[in-house]
Amino acid sequence: MIREVLRMGDPRLLERAREVDVFGTPGLAGLIADMRDTMKHLNGAGLAAPQIGVGLRVVIFGGGPSPRYPDAAAVPDTVLINPVLMPVTREEEGGWEGCLSVPGLRGWVPRWTQLRYMGFDADGAPIDRYATGFHARVVQHECDHLDGILYPMRVRDFSRFGYTEVLFPDGSMAGDD
Ligand code: NI
Repeated sequence: MIREVLRMGDPRLLERAREVDVFGTPGLAGLIADMRDTMKHLNGAGLAAPQIGVGLRVVIFGGGPSPRYPDAAAVPDTVLINPVLMPVTREEEGGWEGCLSVPGLRGWVPRWTQLRYMGFDADGAPIDRYATGFHARVVQHECDHLDGILYPMRVRDFSRFGYTEVLFPDGSMAGDD
């Protein structure tokens, strides 16, 4: 079922989400199905459970390259629960981000270039991966939602934060995620 995505200003987006402690339940499967439906409907690259008002540490991401992110080397379609992120280096790079909870805007956000992430899938099977580039960026963006952090809070240079259609009048970055 497609769910309403909360927008910035809603206090539920600022809370720390709770760990999932039981896997493989119908409730968890239903949540993930709703998140997939909602992300697909909005052509998103990722979605976190708090964005649909569910305060659990569940994120999904993937979908591969899109017109918006043509350089998005295949990001695996992933359900990641109770994630832990660790930078491989402290090196950062900037990149444009948007968010379904911050529609119409884009910002230039520094993120770790390489990280290891761990967590569990919907059945409780462990996930342990290294990610770079856009994959690493998406993971960091989505997992930030679990700690109540929206990407504008990470913007350091506010000369590179604004309305998508003004920043990118050629339409190359149309869309909200
Ligand atoms: Ni987001």
